[in-house]
Amino acid sequence: MWHGAGVAAEPPQTWHYGLVAQWWAEFNDDFRAHEIPYFLRFVERGQPALDVACGTGRLLLPCLRAGLDVDGCDVSADMIALCREKAEREGLGANLYVQAMHELDLPRRYRTIVVCGAFGLGSDRDRDRLALERFFDQLESGGTLLLDKEMPYADARQWTYWLKKERASLPEAAASPRERRRTSDGAELGLRSRVLEVDPLNQHVVYEMRAERWRDGELEAEETHRLDDGHYFRNELRLMLERTGFVDVVVHGEHEEREPRADDDFLVFVGRKP
Ligand SMILES: C[S@@+](CC[C@H](N)C(=O)[O-])C[C@H]1O[C@@H](n2cnc3c(N)ncnc32)[C@H](O)[C@@H]1O
Repeated sequence: MWHGAGVAAEPPQTWHYGLVAQWWAEFNDDFRAHEIPYFLRFVERGQPALDVACGTGRLLLPCLRAGLDVDGCDVSADMIALCREKAEREGLGANLYVQAMHELDLPRRYRTIVVCGAFGLGSDRDRDRLALERFFDQLESGGTLLLDKEMPYADARQWTYWLKKERASLPEAAASPRERRRTSDGAELGLRSRVLEVDPLNQHVVYEMRAERWRDGELEAEETHRLDDGHYFRNELRLMLERTGFVDVVVHGEHEEREPRADDDFLVFVGRKP
């Protein structure tokens, strides 16, 4: 086990607040939907389950609809509020908590913990190590952790900046969203992200998101949010799970129960608490 000496005091920097949270609730319901059946299969095999960084419920809601016993948590109170609204609209009860993953401390122990699209966000390496310890403690003995991670080389835009010459041009210029989408209340939302910093030594990328809401041709609200993202390659993250105490650690490619391949953008790390 590792211990988190020197963990930063500032809250996790993620952009999932305000207008960005609204965008998630409106438009990101079935984003990368192939992950949902993959994770559902594991949750069916081991309950109760916890959806860490559940966002607005893209995975949690299908689990609840299937009658599975799943709790959710997320650092963003805005995402949790929108998730709760969606669940209540469908008459689904859920235990939802606002907590950062490196400070996870919940009343139940779980057979399965899923972290989908979130490990490394709003974080740094010390916090990520702590988060793995928190997942370990929060699992029942014999329970399973599933954690997915997009590989650093999967996103051509930020991967280019790992090269010294390209990195010299950062930060990217600020700009307004290229297009807007109509929301359920008749407004229009637009998002545009930019890369601010890439630190290949620490495998850390900082992004900024500009969000705008327009109504009847007028700019009604604008926000900017920052996102920290810690990058991991397969071998480092597998070793971190093992060092935390997880056993039988396997890595799956693209949310399929098979060996990963070099062309896979997403890997899933699966480990068991002894
Ligand atoms: C890309 S979204 C994914 C949401 C959901 N898991 C899904 O797949 O739809 C990332 C989520 O992670 C949450 N998040 C970011 N950093 C976090 C942290 N350090 N601890 C807990 N949640 C975090 C954000 O608030 C956001 O809801």
